[in-house]
Amino acid sequence: MAQINQFTITEAVKESFQTEEGSRFKFLLETFIDHLHDYTREVNMTHDEWMGMLMFLYDCGKISTPERHEFILLSDVVGLSALVDMINTRGGATEGSNLGPFYLDDAPELELGGDLARGRDGTTLLVHGIVRDSLGNPLPGAIVDTWQADGSGTYPIQEHGQDKYDLRGKITADGEGRYYYTTVLPKPYTVPYDGPVGRLLRAGNRHAWRAAHLHFIIRAEKMRAITTELFFENTEYIDNDAVFGVRKSLIAKLEPVKKSEEFPFALEKRPDAKCRFDFVLAPEG
Ligand SMILES: [Fe+2]
Repeated sequence: MAQINQFTITEAVKESFQTEEGSRFKFLLETFIDHLHDYTREVNMTHDEWMGMLMFLYDCGKISTPERHEFILLSDVVGLSALVDMINTRGGATEGSNLGPFYLDDAPELELGGDLARGRDGTTLLVHGIVRDSLGNPLPGAIVDTWQADGSGTYPIQEHGQDKYDLRGKITADGEGRYYYTTVLPKPYTVPYDGPVGRLLRAGNRHAWRAAHLHFIIRAEKMRAITTELFFENTEYIDNDAVFGVRKSLIAKLEPVKKSEEFPFALEKRPDAKCRFDFVLAPEG
């Protein structure tokens, strides 16, 4: 230990942890230390820069609450969340995308054909498609768990006096794997930029806007659940989403509904526009 220097310290730190040989934890920890030390040496980090980074993390913790998770936001804007989603997308399955900060796991049931918007202003959008496996077989009884912003780009959970369960629901696919419901077409919104992550965005001359999207978690028996988002063709910020959530395969076509148009299913509310998206799940394991 007396001979420790800026090059031998990395091994010394790794050896100081008594981690189980061959374990995932050992691998994660040692690789993290390698990269952290390499980074520090590479940039010749000054004391001011080191303290600046620590204070940035401190500020992220200070502003975080159960409703506002600044570290997830940080992960989002530096593309870490998107990278983890990409690494974990299974071949053949729908690509994953951001969970975001507003998911609630106990959303109410929504009947097939029901209206999620419950009288909210905006364009009434029909969202429909089939949930299937990667061989094309429909998955009857699949659960389509969705949540979204409203026609002004706000999540009800963010607003005082609004029901936090508004604009979220769980829909059970029918015997043919079909899901269909109407909702309000969401608008783009900004991620919170009044905290340390906002300072980072401003320092890099970046905007905080997200392309309009619907959030989904799709589950079916014996299949690997997917967390993803659906975007709309030719809408604002589709090419420069602040959290790198957009994938080409997740962009749906937004089409107007003709006056005479009929649908092969019953809907609670007549839509003004429609989009179709089929979700594909890969087997568990
Ligand atoms: Fe969102």
